[in-house]
Amino acid sequence: MNKKSIRILLLGASGQVGSECKKLFQQVGYTVLCITRKELDLSSISSVDEIVERLLCFQTPSLVVNAAAYTAVDKAESEPSLADKVNHTSVGFLAQYCAKGAIPLIHISTDYVFDGTATTAYTESDDVSPLGVYGETKWLGEQAVKSVLAQHIILRTSWVFGISGNNFVKTMLRLSADREQLTIVSDQYGCPTYAGDIARAILCIVKRYASGQSLNWGVYHCVGEGKVSWYEFSQAILNEAYARGFMPNKPQIIPIPSSAYPTPAARPAYSVLSTDKLAREFNYSVPSWRQGLSAFFDGCSPAL
Ligand SMILES: NC(=O)c1ccc[n+]([C@@H]2O[C@H](COP(=O)([O-])OP(=O)(O)OC[C@H]3O[C@@H](n4cnc5c(N)ncnc54)[C@H](OP(=O)(O)O)[C@@H]3O)[C@@H](O)[C@H]2O)c1
Repeated sequence: MNKKSIRILLLGASGQVGSECKKLFQQVGYTVLCITRKELDLSSISSVDEIVERLLCFQTPSLVVNAAAYTAVDKAESEPSLADKVNHTSVGFLAQYCAKGAIPLIHISTDYVFDGTATTAYTESDDVSPLGVYGETKWLGEQAVKSVLAQHIILRTSWVFGISGNNFVKTMLRLSADREQLTIVSDQYGCPTYAGDIARAILCIVKRYASGQSLNWGVYHCVGEGKVSWYEFSQAILNEAYARGFMPNKPQIIPIPSSAYPTPAARPAYSVLSTDKLAREFNYSVPSWRQGLSAFFDGCSPAL
């Protein structure tokens, strides 16, 4: 396939990961068909035929990338059926649409499929056991894809921060503007992941597919290299922002246990994922979260 003949149907193009995918794919010269919530509201799809009908006006894509999801982890606890429709049922219909047209699907999933009781990095073959509604619906979505479509890549990521959308980095910067002290959880560990690095992983997969070389479909982990607690991450964010002149003063950060910050949804205490499989198969090593943080600030203006 030549670049111009590659048409990627992208769902969730306005989100953190989707917007980076859109930018990168367009830079490379692919045709990107961005499907917004207006064209395809995943909360109201009731059959695969409905998807076919809604997408009739678009040329059949070479590949589908689904970066759309219900991502409000805490709100999902009180909106389980909405989260399930978006993250599970509609994902199943989307996978059926792909299966009908023999179109591969790259679908994004989450570290929240794990319960966080491990002490070493989770691999793709480890057992899952989601702690909350969001993780459960994402896991069901993964299964819905696997059950109908062989040509799938499920890319599990974690602690995403990008220039578009909301995330922990932006929250830290916003709170720092008017607080002298911040309390941050220090007993949950994970891998912050820059959205641009996820888009680059997806590009590697698309390129491999387009090259016609063999490709091992299945589940892959794609997270920023390095393990960190929210507390350590917040320190790194404020240090970098302060050093770059994004803030006149740094607030003091006080570490607290998760028990002192109850949330509607429980979070895994340890959601460190191994990216060895991704590196082996696609020759892509995800940059460290520190490099991702630098890239984030490089792309931001001080007035976020
Ligand atoms: N954020 C994280 O820390 C994190 C961690 C692990 C895994 N992930 C996974 O990574 C993927 C991308 O996440 P993200 O952080 O980029 O998410 P995000 O910024 O919240 O963006 C979500 C996207 O989904 C779209 N969307 C939501 N509900 C929809 C609906 N009913 N119909 C159609 N589109 C809908 C949104 O459209 P609107 O703009 O119209 O709302 C938006 O474009 C998701 O699969 C998520 O589960 C994220």
